[in-house]
Amino acid sequence: MKETEIVFTCQADFADLCLNELRTVAPDVGLLRWLAPGVGILHAPESFAALSRRLRRARELGGKSLLFLRHIFPLDLSFELAENGIGSNEEAYAYLLECTREMERERPFSVQARCLDPKETGVDLHAVQYFFVDGLTERGFRCDGSRPETILSLVIRNRTVYLGRSSAEENLSDWPGGMRRYARKDGQISRAEFKLLETIEVFSLTLPPEGEAIDLGAAPGGWTKVLLEKGLRVTAVDPAALSPQLAADPRVVHYRGLAQEFARENRRPFALLVNDMRMDPAESAAIVCDMADCLAADGLVIMTFKLPANKRTEAIRKGFAALEKRFRVLNARQLFHNRSEITVVCTKQN
Ligand SMILES: C[S@@+](CC[C@H](N)C(=O)[O-])C[C@H]1O[C@@H](n2cnc3c(N)ncnc32)[C@H](O)[C@@H]1O
Repeated sequence: MKETEIVFTCQADFADLCLNELRTVAPDVGLLRWLAPGVGILHAPESFAALSRRLRRARELGGKSLLFLRHIFPLDLSFELAENGIGSNEEAYAYLLECTREMERERPFSVQARCLDPKETGVDLHAVQYFFVDGLTERGFRCDGSRPETILSLVIRNRTVYLGRSSAEENLSDWPGGMRRYARKDGQISRAEFKLLETIEVFSLTLPPEGEAIDLGAAPGGWTKVLLEKGLRVTAVDPAALSPQLAADPRVVHYRGLAQEFARENRRPFALLVNDMRMDPAESAAIVCDMADCLAADGLVIMTFKLPANKRTEAIRKGFAALEKRFRVLNARQLFHNRSEITVVCTKQN
């Protein structure tokens, strides 16, 4: 059986939970060492493709598995950067030639590069990345950063380059290290907007094209703004103030009170429920369950589980248990824009 080494990424504060989950899903996979907080090397007794299939299958079955693993790539090779730069590294040329032999020219590629060293160590990440981009382009391969079929992933740590080849699907994320970044735009209300945008993108969610959404814990209104942009009207529930740009919007109703009260009073149907309340996951899930009857039959719930500093696994388990009284979990993950939390997507039980 072919043994492999794999570079994996998770959020640094949740590395222990990520490893625990990996042990459950793939007990024969072990940590070799950390390269940096949240970036480590695993050892697996099978090919990268086989391990990736196993991990993806575990995620597909029930959606509550491997919450904390963000990204993986196969470690084909590592070498220390030459003093004069990568152009003096024979290993890099040899790997480039291997790529030209093994990659298919009709499949577009990209090179995803990250440097884990502080800036002052003087590593020229761009030069390393473009050594491979230019080397492959000059040899007739097509680079397409937005729709690559083959990805060369590399990280640099202590002037050592770790690199490997795979597909975006096998890597579990289209983005280097699973880090989906969005550009800040004028009129942005909160960083939380990125969290909802990432959720919709990563889980390929189709939101209702019109109708009303309920946004629990809406203030200052980043999620409400995203939902308006998707064509929905929004009832924003929060005792705190909304951004002035939303307060004046006729498509927004601000219920300035607690979600518990709103859940008791509301009898109107709605198409979508989102919930980013700063609250214990099980309590938050119980409020969502109280509102289940008013949610459309095929309506989605998108919510965050805010995790405590301790007993996080227990908080997650209790959150799921509370939610599953009325809902079925479709996806759950710690996304790049989640801090001490995970994002959960569910639909009503039949
Ligand atoms: C992380 S912020 C939400 C950010 C928001 N999603 C955005 O995009 O701007 C959490 C919010 O939950 C609200 N919250 C906490 N407990 C609540 C409750 N019981 N009912 C309603 N809102 C609550 C807080 O007032 C706070 O505004």
